[in-house]
Amino acid sequence: MQGKRILLIVTGGIAAYKTLEVIRRVRERGAAVRCILTKSGAQFVTPLSLAALSEDRVYDDLFSLTDEHEMGHINLSRQADVLLVAPASADMLAKMAAGLAGDLATTALLATDKPVLVAPAMNVRMWEHPATQANIQILKARGVGFIGPNAGDMACGEHGMGRMAEPAEIVDALEAFFGPVVKRLSGRRAIVTSGPTHEAIDPVRYIANRSSGKQGHAIAKALADMGCETTLVTGPTHQPDPMGCRVVRIESARDMLAACEAALPADIAVCAAAVADWRTADAAEGKIKKQPGAAPPALKMIENPDILAALSAAGNKRPALVVGFAAETSEVVANATAKRQRKGCDWIVANDVSPASGTFSGDSNTVHLITEAGAEHWPTLSKTDVADRLAALIAARFEAAE
Ligand code: CTP
Repeated sequence: MQGKRILLIVTGGIAAYKTLEVIRRVRERGAAVRCILTKSGAQFVTPLSLAALSEDRVYDDLFSLTDEHEMGHINLSRQADVLLVAPASADMLAKMAAGLAGDLATTALLATDKPVLVAPAMNVRMWEHPATQANIQILKARGVGFIGPNAGDMACGEHGMGRMAEPAEIVDALEAFFGPVVKRLSGRRAIVTSGPTHEAIDPVRYIANRSSGKQGHAIAKALADMGCETTLVTGPTHQPDPMGCRVVRIESARDMLAACEAALPADIAVCAAAVADWRTADAAEGKIKKQPGAAPPALKMIENPDILAALSAAGNKRPALVVGFAAETSEVVANATAKRQRKGCDWIVANDVSPASGTFSGDSNTVHLITEAGAEHWPTLSKTDVADRLAALIAARFEAAE
């Protein structure tokens, strides 16, 4: 969607907070967003948030003479490539179906000659009401595109259809609308590490950790989706193989290092694996048996190779962009910033893995991206969204260098 212009109309609904994320993500993909905020939309998000994220002024007053002079409502809607109403309340769908034009948002929608997409968000009873369903039929017959809604728990405590589509779905729908997904990383190669490692104590026992592999697998998929030739080197996980990646399954840190080195050269390395820092000095060949009356065996540990540090110091084979993760339980940004220096990587995605955060087994992640420019704090996102956002930044970094 590079260079496309989206006129985003934000109406009243708790889902308006998700729209902020839509703005970020479409802008990361190179589109420009200009916002119209309705009066009821302004009960949920502020013009300031929309203006900051869109880096444009926010339009909210039909009768402002200055606006009419600078940018009439007709121009506003015609200068866009598409109009997106998100969230689209039941009230807005009814107004659109009836052709009302009592404010700037509805006037722009009535005056436009451009395609219109809507992402409805409302209570399940409102969604199911025959009036709303009739309005939807009218709008669909006129060519309005619908994104969602989804079924699920609602802010009002009920459950059913009416939740606004997730930001990633809205962005996907826009991508699909603008044409085939641009393979921003085609011609590039990436190595992604994921999951835990298992370090043998003997043939039946091992040392491991709680990593699920969700984040690393999602990153491999996001890169592959962008056309990147991706090798996923993964420890034992329950994650399905991401489509479009070459998957190398390993157990120990030493296997992981060997697999990564074998996958070089690469343009990008993302080390998301939770590699065991230590292994036993000499894993037993046979099962260690209990000896009656004897003390439990003491395990002598030695340090494992550091894969991130090794890839960062791979000389002329060093990937142009090496991204590490930092799993921290305190002082997340400070520790991760020091880790970036210590490991010699370019970026660090830092996350809090203390038990209260639920990061290790959960589906969401709250991360801070540490680069040479400092720390960027991301909102809590699904691991898929973190992966998409990281992949988009990686693509942007290579595009900027071209
Ligand atoms: N990493 C690695 N090989 C190791 C240990 C860590 O490649 N043997 C990578 C991880 O994949 C991650 C980064 O290094 O990208 C940081 O991992 P983390 O566990 O946060 O840090 P540690 O190096 O283990 O340091 P500490 O235990 O002091 O936090």
